[in-house]
Amino acid sequence: MEYELNRDQIPAHVAIIMDGNGRWAKAKGLPRTAGHVEGVERAKQITEEATRLGVKFLTLYTFSTENWNRPDAEIEAIFNLLVTGLEDEVFMKNNVRFRVIGDFDRLPLSVQKRTRECMDKTAGNTGTTMVVAISYSSRWELTQTMQKMARQATEGKLKPEEITEDYISSQLQTAFMPDPDLLIRTGGEYRISNYLLWQCAYTEFYYCDTYWPDFHEEDLRKAIADFQHRQRRYGKTGEQVEKNEN
Ligand code: IPE
Ligand code: IPE
Ligand code: MG
Repeated sequence: MEYELNRDQIPAHVAIIMDGNGRWAKAKGLPRTAGHVEGVERAKQITEEATRLGVKFLTLYTFSTENWNRPDAEIEAIFNLLVTGLEDEVFMKNNVRFRVIGDFDRLPLSVQKRTRECMDKTAGNTGTTMVVAISYSSRWELTQTMQKMARQATEGKLKPEEITEDYISSQLQTAFMPDPDLLIRTGGEYRISNYLLWQCAYTEFYYCDTYWPDFHEEDLRKAIADFQHRQRRYGKTGEQVEKNEN
């Protein structure tokens, strides 16, 4: 099925909660890791499709703070896949800039080294920015940011009245990108699982039952087509938005 997309209304920032790898594998009688292996392939394909469509920022939830509570063997498998799955040539070919958000210091050294290399190599690319959230959770990010601002205040560099919404956004790890326009969650759960809570204040949510390893390019186009039919009102009435009142 082909979806009509308005090329002038492509969301600038698409965030994805890539869920359902384990259940996909279980349904096929495979170990959970097999779902993660397939999930990495989808992440690459979806990034390439986002690039073709002109999405400027793609934020992929890859490993949450809470995922540290999984069995060690699964955690190890996920990190190994991350290290082997990052391909500089593919990023360079597609002009993709690679970034990481999350608790970098908590990551295994192999992951820190490989992701650092990729970030450095692709820093000058000007196409889509692919942001991988690893050891990330929104409450962790907000807590870190509040501690940072408290230090600034203690050092006399920040006055309470200078703590505005814009200032808070500028101190978060996500400061280099706009808030998500569209958040996609695969895998059939209707929850946000500690992802980009501050940033999603006015994001459009899209949920689908498809497990992440089955989420293909046309599914991304379908989600974007759905997004393009929404009216973003930001508290105003529909009539005001139609008249384009500010
Ligand atoms: C998402 O798939 C990937 C990660 C959280 C790392 P899951 O591993 O959560 O798959 P399900 O939800 O158990 O099916
Ligand atoms: C959310 O998936 C985190 C990632 C996709 C990385 P989970 O599978 O961990 O979410 P919950 O815990 O079921 O909500
Ligand atoms: Mg899950």
